[in-house]
Amino acid sequence: MSDLLSLNPALAQQLGVADGDLSSKQATDALKKLSLEDIMTGLAANGKNAKDMASYKFWQTQPVPKFGEKAEIEEGPFKIVDLEKVPKEPGPLVDGFEWVTMDLTNDEEIKEVFDLLYGHYVEDNEAMFRFNYSVSFLRWALLSPGWSKEWHVGVRASASRKLVAFISAVPIALRVRNKVLHASEVNFLCIHKKLRSKRLAPVLIKEITRRCYLQKIWQAIYTAGVVLPTPVSTTRYYHRSLDWQKLNDVGFSPLPHGSKPQYQILKYKLPNNTATKGLRPMEEKDVDAVLDLLQKYLQRFDMAPVFTREEVVHWLLYKKDSPDEQVAWSYVVEDPTTKTITDFFSFYCIESSVINSKHTSIRAAYLYYYATTVALQPHTQAQLKERLNSLVNDALILAKKLKFDVFNALTLMDNALFLEQQKFGAGDGQLHYYLYNYKANPIAGGVDHMNRVDEKGCSGIGVVML
Ligand SMILES: CC(C)(COP(=O)(O)OP(=O)(O)OC[C@H]1O[C@@H](n2cnc3c(N)ncnc32)[C@H](O)[C@@H]1OP(=O)(O)O)[C@@H](O)C(=O)NCCC(=O)NCCS
Repeated sequence: MSDLLSLNPALAQQLGVADGDLSSKQATDALKKLSLEDIMTGLAANGKNAKDMASYKFWQTQPVPKFGEKAEIEEGPFKIVDLEKVPKEPGPLVDGFEWVTMDLTNDEEIKEVFDLLYGHYVEDNEAMFRFNYSVSFLRWALLSPGWSKEWHVGVRASASRKLVAFISAVPIALRVRNKVLHASEVNFLCIHKKLRSKRLAPVLIKEITRRCYLQKIWQAIYTAGVVLPTPVSTTRYYHRSLDWQKLNDVGFSPLPHGSKPQYQILKYKLPNNTATKGLRPMEEKDVDAVLDLLQKYLQRFDMAPVFTREEVVHWLLYKKDSPDEQVAWSYVVEDPTTKTITDFFSFYCIESSVINSKHTSIRAAYLYYYATTVALQPHTQAQLKERLNSLVNDALILAKKLKFDVFNALTLMDNALFLEQQKFGAGDGQLHYYLYNYKANPIAGGVDHMNRVDEKGCSGIGVVML
């Protein structure tokens, strides 16, 4: 059991056995309630038996799958919503608070959202790091093609006017197997620390749902580190050190038993220059080629966005004349003879505040979309693996040059083919994918039943959430 728990540090910590000591009665009792599979997939979490629907007072009322429905099902919506019956006004809030629609084109209002997230957004289990999404990032994430002001929902304290909670959505055309859903992508749910555990989250979720329904959007995709009923897929975080010393200083990367700092630094050393011929930053003239390549590549996955040209421009192309700082970096490979675009990859930046350390923040690159023509032609797994490894190695070199400290990736898309070879280490975090008002059969998340990267199965997830 100790060995198994060492493969799932997040769960070990929740059970209070982070040091491998299984002697406490509380820990053994909690463990007895879990199946082996639950332990390994992280489905057991939160201190409550995560598979017990009765403990999800809110989610059990929602059009989402119950736990344990294993049989193959016909995919489709849980319910057809009658627009006439959708309330025209928001539900009531507790006294002293009121709904606001945020205007994120206004610098002051987007700064308010930034401040709320800066102080209160997602932290790791030990409260050592907190995501610090920049204002530029929020503009990129929340003002994407088709965005609607109505979907940037805030709660203010009536007296002080302070923003104390937020939830948002942007539109997405999402293919789930062979059906394309016009859905919303819900993100940035955040409640001020002083207002936690007061059942405000369900109120926010109901409000964003109402506002999506009013625009005839009946489905949503969202992700969370916590287990809710019921993930359509579970992926795992992997981290690749770029500046091991700094990551060690801030407590992110412990020194492995029996190693020395200089060995670790050597282990993660990268060449100074990229190796792929024809690799260069993506430009405006590449948009159509990238769109075509990406659309075809994403066909490989069970669930993926259906990108438009406008979206490729928005999500992948850095506009040099933009007053915003750059948040996403995209590169293409241009064949020197044919001049065609054969591959592309991208990553984006999220800093994390380090709570209590001499360094104030960690700069993390997150692997975003990528594609290669190797996958579109007849190929062996070994050929695809080789190509992806060289592309991702170049991505690491570029990210290092851009002063990132760590490169993060999930076990989605074809990532299982390069994570270990590129020296990514398994993280203790998981990212669960959820669909609202849509029944879908499970999608592989790129980890096996032991929560290890699954090179054979890979993942059916082709959607990267910010
Ligand atoms: C996530 C957060 C908004 C939840 O608020 P809270 O005050 O802890 O919880 P509340 O009392 O308001 O609501 C609890 C309900 O929300 C659900 N919930 C908690 N986190 C959730 C999440 N990330 N997504 C959806 N539902 C969530 C709970 O399961 C519970 O419902 P249940 O009774 O059906 O189980 C708050 O903890 C927060 O702002 N955390 C930091 C930011 C964050 O983690 N955001 C989510 C990113 S995915």
